Amino acid sequence: MPIYLDYHATTPVDPRVFAAMTPYFMEIFGNPASTSHRVGLQARAVVEQARQRIATALNASSPREIVFTSGSTESNNLAIKGVVRMYESRGRHVLTAVTEHKCVLNACKALRDDGYEVTFLPVASDGSLSVADVEGALRPDTVLVSLMHANNEIGVIHDIAAIGAVCRARGVLVHTDATQSFGKVPVDVQALHVDLLSMSGHKMYGPKGVGALYVRTPCTLAPQLDGGGHEFGLRSGTLNVPGIVGLADAVVLAGADLQTDRHTQRAMRDRLWLALQDAFPSVLLNGPDPIASPDRRLPNNLNVSVPGAAGDALLAALGDDICVSTSSACTSASGESSHVLSAIGREEGLTNLRISVGRPTTLTEIDQVVACISRATLTPNA
Ligand SMILES: Cc1ncc(COP(=O)(O)O)c(C=O)c1O
Repeated sequence: MPIYLDYHATTPVDPRVFAAMTPYFMEIFGNPASTSHRVGLQARAVVEQARQRIATALNASSPREIVFTSGSTESNNLAIKGVVRMYESRGRHVLTAVTEHKCVLNACKALRDDGYEVTFLPVASDGSLSVADVEGALRPDTVLVSLMHANNEIGVIHDIAAIGAVCRARGVLVHTDATQSFGKVPVDVQALHVDLLSMSGHKMYGPKGVGALYVRTPCTLAPQLDGGGHEFGLRSGTLNVPGIVGLADAVVLAGADLQTDRHTQRAMRDRLWLALQDAFPSVLLNGPDPIASPDRRLPNNLNVSVPGAAGDALLAALGDDICVSTSSACTSASGESSHVLSAIGREEGLTNLRISVGRPTTLTEIDQVVACISRATLTPNA
C-alpha cells in the first residue's frame, strides 16, 4: 500500500461524507430548480439546508451569502472577474501577490489583457506578505484585493484579518482563497474582514467538482456564465445536489475535528521535519519555521529543498511507495517549475518536496517514512 502524503493536492472523501451523499444520486435525485413539484422541492430543501450549514460554519450573516460552484478555480474566477466587472465605476486596479494559485494569477492576467491594472506583490523569503506593503500598494482606484489565506505549496498563512481590516477602512473589497486553510485553521468571515471567500470540497475530505463562494452582503458580482440565473443570478447551471450535500457535511466535520486534526497533524509534520534535518543537514526549509512559528504555517504542511546528490538520495529513499509532491499538483500538470519557490528566491536545480499529512495519516506511516529518510543517510554523499 502506498503511503499518501499529498493531502494538499486532494483528500479522500470521508466515509461519513460519502454516506451522507449516497441517497442524492438515485433516491432523491430532483433538480432543485424544478419548484413546481415535490421531487424538485425535496432537492431544493436539501440544498438550502446545506447552504445554511455552510453559512453557519463560516459565520456568514445569511445563507444567501453562499453561492455554490464547481470548486475553487471557479469560485476564484467568479470572485475576481465578477467584482471588477461589477464595480468598474469605482476603479480598475486589482492587487494580488506573486505566490497566489495559478487560477488567481491567470484570472488577473486575463483582466490585465482586458485593460485592467494589476499589481502582483512580491513576498518575503519565507513567503509572507507584510500588511504595510499591502496597504502601501492600495491606490485610489483599487477595487479589489485578492490574497490567499494559506499557500498551497509552502503553507504560509497570511494575516488576512489585518489586511481585511485595512482594506475595509479604505473601502476596498477583499477576496481570500481559503481552499487550503479551511479545516486546518479557523476560518470566520467576520473575523477575517473579507467580502469574498473561496472554498473547495476535495481539499477537505469532501467530493471533487464542488465548492462555494462566500459573497458578503451587499457586495454583488457580474455573473461569469450565461444561463438560467441560478444561485441568485450569480452562477447559472443545475446544482450538483450530492456534491453540495457532501460539501456541507465536509465543512461541518472539518469544524468539529479542527482542534484534534490540527494537533495530530502538526505533531506528525514536525516529526518529519526533524527527521529530515537529522538525515540531511543540507536541507533547506521553504516557508515559515514550523517549530518556531507554528501559527504562521499550515499544521499539515512541509516543503523542503535538498541540494545535489542528497536530493537524489532522498528521492530514491522515498521511492514509489511514498506519495509526495515535487511541486504543486496544478503546477506539475503544466510541467513548469514552481512559481512560489522562485518567488521566495529558491534557485533551480534543487530537489523540492512538498509533504502534506492528512486526517487519515497514521503514526505507523510516519514511522515508516522516518525510517526511509534515516536509511537514506547511509547513501554516500547524502
Ligand atoms: C490555493 C488553491 N486555490 C485554488 C485551487 C483550485 O481548486 P479546485 O481544484 O477546487 O478548482 C487549489 C487547488 O490546488 C488551491 O490549492
